[in-house]
Amino acid sequence: MKKKFSLALAAMMLAGVLTACGGNGGGNAATGSNPSSGSGAASSAASGSETPTIDAIKAKGEIVMLTNAQFPPFEYLGDDGSVQGVDPDIAQAVADKIGVELKIVDMDFDGIIDALKAGKGDFAAAGMTITEERLKEVDFSDEYVTSSQMVVVPAGSDLKADDAMLSGKNITVQEGTTGDWYASGDTETTGSEIKDAQVLRYKSAVEAGMMLAQGKADAMIVDQKPAEAIVAAQGGKLVLLPEKLTDEHYAFAIQKGQEDLQAVINEVLKEYNGEKVDELITQHMGIE
Ligand code: ARG
Repeated sequence: MKKKFSLALAAMMLAGVLTACGGNGGGNAATGSNPSSGSGAASSAASGSETPTIDAIKAKGEIVMLTNAQFPPFEYLGDDGSVQGVDPDIAQAVADKIGVELKIVDMDFDGIIDALKAGKGDFAAAGMTITEERLKEVDFSDEYVTSSQMVVVPAGSDLKADDAMLSGKNITVQEGTTGDWYASGDTETTGSEIKDAQVLRYKSAVEAGMMLAQGKADAMIVDQKPAEAIVAAQGGKLVLLPEKLTDEHYAFAIQKGQEDLQAVINEVLKEYNGEKVDELITQHMGIE
């Protein structure tokens, strides 16, 4: 059953806000926005420089991305142990645009927003869904990927992606994700009507999939492309149900008020929207 609810609404509101600040609302060709430099004109008044955040990043010589690399194709560990994926590729383009090195910090997903607020990174790129709750803590870039929560079941299961049928079941999730909120029956944030599920929370979406494949649960709730990648990696043990539970939009997160950095990220995302992101997704699918 497909629902449109607050996540999509938050994204629409955000697009409106960003357009008003001189960024481009995701998807629509914003009129009158500044196509060059990313100089964050809106933030210039308070500080001496027009680009205080970018200046500080240049002075450090590196930009730090926070992520959780257990979420293919958006981020995963490559054979050499480095973090690979759609988000690192886009983040590298952001670093190149500013002219600094990219450093990636891999951490638990549910710690990313606090780490960002504490200044442990310059931005988060983690297949992160724009939500109203998160908007209270951080700012988001324009959106760059549309996604949904999906249900994965063991092969042979007759469960359906239906809240009533999922009620009372054992459901694996990655902790602190919108899939966790959905499985937990958080109606206000996700529109979920699941009641009294036993939610098995893992630090990694890949692990949540492995536990399901090992028969530890009835279902997993996870984002669409990671669901496809996890099902493919489990060689026939798991099946992805076709119904979408939610409509969500991914964006990079940054500390509140850093319009200059937000503008540079948005410029890069503008180059990557649509086809180029799809190409990156295809390129990074089919890995473990
Ligand atoms: N889109 C979901 C959310 O924002 C899941 C993101 C998980 N990302 C990750 N890199 N593990 O809650």
